[in-house]
Amino acid sequence: MRIVVLVSGTGSNLQAVIDAVASGSLELTIAAVGADRPGTYGVERSAAAGIDTFVVDFKAFEERSDWDAALLDKVRSYQPDYVVSSGFMRIVGAKFIEAFPNRYLNTHPALLPAFPGAHGVRDALAYGVKVTGCTVMYADAGVDTGPIIAQRAVEVLEGDSEESLHERIKIAERELLIETLRQLTSF
Ligand code: GAR
Repeated sequence: MRIVVLVSGTGSNLQAVIDAVASGSLELTIAAVGADRPGTYGVERSAAAGIDTFVVDFKAFEERSDWDAALLDKVRSYQPDYVVSSGFMRIVGAKFIEAFPNRYLNTHPALLPAFPGAHGVRDALAYGVKVTGCTVMYADAGVDTGPIIAQRAVEVLEGDSEESLHERIKIAERELLIETLRQLTSF
């Protein structure tokens, strides 16, 4: 199974996938890691691990549809079985979704459908929920609206900050992403 991983930031979940592949506990090939902007640590750490990397810079395109098309071309060139959005903070266009039906995975740091969007942890904390968590789902054209594959609950602790809560959620998120990928490799 070949995957392409898309990142916008530090890529700590991606690092967990890289480590699981390196240790042999996850049998797949990370064909490439791509980002929507230059200078991400996610791309840097992938390059350091010897993985092909690419950037399709959102800001370099005047039309969103041109960025979408360029991203699709680039991802397709690696012939992935699955595309994994791992902290990729862009909504892709319909053509991209259609190109990977039920083959484009996304992760989110909240128990969807609660708290979608770019600030899932902050919004859950501000609402005052006592339990939040993480979700692995198939991406669709909406904001965190695709079919849910797996979820895991994480308790909100007294005195949690957005950072401390997000760190605990990410521990669960990494396990859930790796478990989900492992299940997909067994089909
Ligand atoms: C992860 O918690 C992921 O769920 C979240 O960004 C973080 C990326 O962390 N994604 C979203 O909020 C998407 N709506 P990482 O770059 O350290 O893996």
